[in-house]
Amino acid sequence: MRKEKRRIIRGKVYVLGDNIDTDQIIPAQYLNLVPTIPEEYSKLGSYALSGLPDTHAPFIAPGASASPYTIIVAGRNFGCGSSREHAPVALGAAGVEAVVAESYARIFFRNAVSTGEVFPCESAERLCEIFTTGMDAEIDLDAGRIVEEHSASSFALKPLGAVRPVIEAGGLFEYARAAGMIGGKGSVAIPRERRARIVALANQKGGVGKTTTAVNLAACLADAGRRVLLIDLDPQASATSGLGVAKEAGTSVYKALLGEVRMEDRIIPVPDRGLDMIPSEVDLAGAEVDVARSDRYLHRLRDALLPVLGSRDYDFVILDCPPSLGILTMNALATADALVIPVQCEYYALEGLSIMTQLVQQMRSSGTNPDLELEGILMTMYDARTNLAHQVVREVRKHLGRLVYKTVIPRSVRLSEAPSHGLPAGAYDRHSTGAKAYYRFGKEFMKRSRHARAKA
Ligand SMILES: Nc1ncnc2c1ncn2[C@@H]1O[C@H](COP(=O)(O)OP(=O)(O)OP(=O)(O)O)[C@@H](O)[C@H]1O
Ligand SMILES: [Mg+2]
Repeated sequence: MRKEKRRIIRGKVYVLGDNIDTDQIIPAQYLNLVPTIPEEYSKLGSYALSGLPDTHAPFIAPGASASPYTIIVAGRNFGCGSSREHAPVALGAAGVEAVVAESYARIFFRNAVSTGEVFPCESAERLCEIFTTGMDAEIDLDAGRIVEEHSASSFALKPLGAVRPVIEAGGLFEYARAAGMIGGKGSVAIPRERRARIVALANQKGGVGKTTTAVNLAACLADAGRRVLLIDLDPQASATSGLGVAKEAGTSVYKALLGEVRMEDRIIPVPDRGLDMIPSEVDLAGAEVDVARSDRYLHRLRDALLPVLGSRDYDFVILDCPPSLGILTMNALATADALVIPVQCEYYALEGLSIMTQLVQQMRSSGTNPDLELEGILMTMYDARTNLAHQVVREVRKHLGRLVYKTVIPRSVRLSEAPSHGLPAGAYDRHSTGAKAYYRFGKEFMKRSRHARAKA
C-alpha cells in the first residue's frame, strides 16, 4: 500500500531483541488477510507483533489499528523464519516507518523493499541495548543517522543505497512503473490479443449462480467452436461435479499454485464436452493458507498460468471462484482480463455489488492487475411471475446501465437438475428455458468480449 515517504522519520521507539521471527511479527493465522483490501490491510496492522511473548509492552492497544510506535529498534537477524510479505506489510499498516536492526534475515529485507512498507535500516552498534521502548527518536535518512531526542545521542546508520528509492516509490512494482521499466498495462508477457481471454466469475455472495454460469458459459463457448479451459477454483468443486468429472485428491490447481507441479499437467479434457478443465477437490481449501504464506501470493495463479497461455491455444480461460474474497478469488482477480458478476434477482441484489466494484478499482489502482475490467453483470434466477424480480432487474439496470447483460437467466428447474447428472443444461435438456437463456448469454458474452478485446 502506497504511503508518502519522508526523509526524516520521527516518533516513538519500540525495542526488541535478536532473532525476531515473522511468526512474532504476524502470526500465521492472519495470513489470509489480503493487504490490497483496505479493511484487511488495517486489520493486518492491528495484529502486528501480536506473536510476541506477553513479557513485551503492548505494541498496539487492544482494538486499535495503529501503533503509537513509528520506529522499531532491534538486534540481530530481524525477520527470520518463514518468508512472508505480510510481515513488513503488517508493520507498515500499524504505522511503523522504519526498523533499525543490527542485521536482517535476507528475505525480510527483500520483502521490506519489494512492498515499500518500511525502511530496513542497519546500525553497526547494538542500539537495542541503548534505546528503551517509548523513547523519542529521529531518523535522518539523508544524513544516515538516528538520534535519541532526549539526550541528543546520535548513531550512524549504514546507507540504504539503491533500495531507498524503491521504498520511497512505494515498492518494487511502483518503482519499476515509475522508472518506465514496465508499462501501465499488466505484466502477462504474451500480448493480450494473441492469448486466451481470462474471465473470472466471482461474487463473494454464495449461491448466486457463479458455477452454473461458469459451466454453462464454458459449454456454450465450446459448442460455438471456441477453445475453452475451465478452472474450478472452489474447494466445494461444484463445477467439477457439474461437468461429471470425479473429485480426486491431488488433481486441483493447489500444487500448481505452490509451484510444485506444472499447471499444464493439471489440465484434463472433459469427455464429450469439447472443453478442457482443471478440476477441484476439497484439498484446495488448504491453498488459502499455504498460498498466503508464499511470496507473490496474489500472483500465483497468473504465474502458473503463463506457460499454459503461451503453449496452448485457448480462446477463453474461465475461472469459477468460491463465495469469498479470500486468496483464491483474489488470485483470480489478479489474473483475469474480465470479471463477470452473476447477481441473483432478489431484494438485496445490489448489496455487496459495490464491494466487488471497489475491488476492481483497487486491483487496478494498486497495480495488482491494471488490466482488470468489470465486463458485465448477469442477472440470474429471474422469476417472471413475481413483481419483485421485475423491480430488481429494473433497479440494477438503473444503477449499472449497460454493464448489465441484456440476457437475464430465468429460474429453471432444469438448470438446477442438470449438475446432478454431470451435464451442462444444453446437454441435459437443450429445449429448456434455462439452456436457451445460457445459449443467448453465450452469444452476448462473445460479442461483448470481442468489443472489449478490440478496445484493449
Ligand atoms: N437459474 C437458475 N434456476 C434454478 N436454479 C439455479 C439457477 N442457477 C443456479 N441454480 C441453482 O442454485 C444453486 C446455486 O447455484 P450455483 O452453484 O451456480 O451458485 P454459486 O454462486 O456458484 O454458489 P457458491 O457461492 O456456493 O459457489 C445450485 O443448486 C444451482 O443448481
Ligand atoms: Mg459455485
